[in-house]
Amino acid sequence: MKIYKTKNYEEMSRKAAHIISAQVTLKPDSILGLATGSTPIGTYENLVKWYEDGDLDFSGITTVNLDEYKGLPRDNDQSYYYFMHHHLFDHVNIPDGRTHLPDGTKEDSDQECRQYEELIQSLGGVDLQLLGLGHNGHIGFNEPDDIFPDDTHCVNLQERTIEANKRFFASADEVPRQAYTMGIGTIMRAKKILIVVSGADKADTVKEAFFGPITPKVPASILQLHPDVTLVADEAALSKID
Ligand code: GLP
Repeated sequence: MKIYKTKNYEEMSRKAAHIISAQVTLKPDSILGLATGSTPIGTYENLVKWYEDGDLDFSGITTVNLDEYKGLPRDNDQSYYYFMHHHLFDHVNIPDGRTHLPDGTKEDSDQECRQYEELIQSLGGVDLQLLGLGHNGHIGFNEPDDIFPDDTHCVNLQERTIEANKRFFASADEVPRQAYTMGIGTIMRAKKILIVVSGADKADTVKEAFFGPITPKVPASILQLHPDVTLVADEAALSKID
């Protein structure tokens, strides 16, 4: 694993955006795996700025997102569909129809998850997968578990995740209880992985995930087995690492 330690969130965001833009420049028809959450927002801001400056061209790019809440309509401002359009898709030139997320409005979980997994396979797999890190070590919405789930699937969100995400909703009651997420296998099949982490509140999680035993109790710990992972984290997030 390559680790870049940055001074702060802004520098982390710039570094991550540089890695993504290198991918877009070197392989203009890349399949990018994208993530939501507060951590990647600064990364997307940089990509949008560099696109506006004429330094980046997304016209050959296809994207697949990690996850989506089940049951939220796409125009709900807390859906990941809305998030991605708001922070990236509406501001850059990825062609319409080439940005993919699981469809949380589809009731039939098995069918939607199978189709999403097939879609990723039909695209030839993900070239570069961007990830954030949940406080309990989750990636996408793969929560601590007894096993590492393989393909895209429907999950019941854990209390800690609902608590962490309620800040975006009017109340905890409004946070959906289920989500569709790429599985650990889907994520591990990406050719390259870029994980961004910021803040002292994630320092213990970083230590457990990347310097502790590999266990489904800390889903991100599996990334230690991936051949091409880059962690970009600020000093606060790395403060528990010698
Ligand atoms: C959500 C998302 C994850 C994300 C995590 C951390 O649960 N499903 O993909 O990594 O939150 O979010 P944040 O970056 O806001 O801490």
